[in-house]
Amino acid sequence: MKGVVLAGGTGSRLRPITFSMAKQLIPVANKPIIEYGLEDLAEAGITEVGVIVSPETGGEVEAAVGDGARLGLRLNYILQDRPLGLAHALKTALPFVGGDDCLMYLGDNLVKDGVRDVVADFQEHRPNCQILLCPVDNPSSFGVADLEPDGRIRRLVEKPTVPPSNLALVGVYLFDGSIAEAVDAIRPSARGELEITDAIQHLVETQRTVRASVVSGWWKDTGTKEDLLTAQELVIPLVAHGIEGEVTGGRLEGAVHVGRGSQLVDCEVTGPVVVGDDARLTRVRLGPQTSIGHGCRLSDAAVEGSIVMDGAEVYGWRLRNSLLGRGARLHGAAPAPFVEVTLGERSEIVG
Ligand code: DAU
Repeated sequence: MKGVVLAGGTGSRLRPITFSMAKQLIPVANKPIIEYGLEDLAEAGITEVGVIVSPETGGEVEAAVGDGARLGLRLNYILQDRPLGLAHALKTALPFVGGDDCLMYLGDNLVKDGVRDVVADFQEHRPNCQILLCPVDNPSSFGVADLEPDGRIRRLVEKPTVPPSNLALVGVYLFDGSIAEAVDAIRPSARGELEITDAIQHLVETQRTVRASVVSGWWKDTGTKEDLLTAQELVIPLVAHGIEGEVTGGRLEGAVHVGRGSQLVDCEVTGPVVVGDDARLTRVRLGPQTSIGHGCRLSDAAVEGSIVMDGAEVYGWRLRNSLLGRGARLHGAAPAPFVEVTLGERSEIVG
């Protein structure tokens, strides 16, 4: 089985961050989102992986993720000229898939339990397609499954105004070779994209076997800032451990990671919190649910429920539910008391 990971698209809902970085590289608990999916593939024994990239961000994704060797993968970067939809992205990858089975994983999705079980299930039952479903509160934002009482799929619809159920399609799909005909058969949707949901619906209509199962653990699509911060809340307790840097004075409570070469002086830290490498924090109240990237500088500040990316600097400000791009700076007289900020890469606010 081959893997196809989607790292193209525009990430428009995450501007201004995505003006200067691929959405799949946004760090969640200091690790690019896409790496969680790649690790899931490696864990499921899928080593040949095609990564779909866009002309705008492909170089950056390749530079950040590399050839995959450190994850035990062989990555092949595949250029999708334009973001014409998930089925178009898969179609672009089909020469790489070469008629094998494939698992398509959306590079902005996080799945707690990984994909090992669904791969085993697919291999045991050999359907033409297997999808994962997850109950959500806002089904209109996703592909949605309408099921028969016995669990078989009646219909799949993309972002319906009136959702037939609360079961969203998770961004993990398994296919055999029959998907090639389906992606050729469909036409662009109302939003002008070739929808993978429509391609799977075509499989249903042509009497192919489409198997669906509901995920047992959490699943998160990281399309918006709120989604990213929630995703981080889910992931961070799993990775916040190990003090490799130097902590002087202050107090650490709960699950905390401090990276190599970092210094925390007189900081009050309430986990779960991760601090990357080579950061300097002085008199900072940190956490919970917060990640501070590599090389950040913070002093006389407070940060909770936020993602602060590499090289960002915060002096005197108190932040909550915030997203600071790489090298962003907040300094000067801070507004009182806590503020919520989304600041693009190397942008600056002087209070
Ligand atoms: O997250 C699950 C949802 O993903 C499903 O429930 C929906 O049925 C499915 O259509 C998809 O919806 P989104 O609107 O969230 O998809 P998005 O445009 O965010 O794209 C998902 C990933 O695929 C993202 O990493 C960008 C990448 N992508 C997207 C497009 C449209 C590409 O690589 N190429 C593309 O042409």
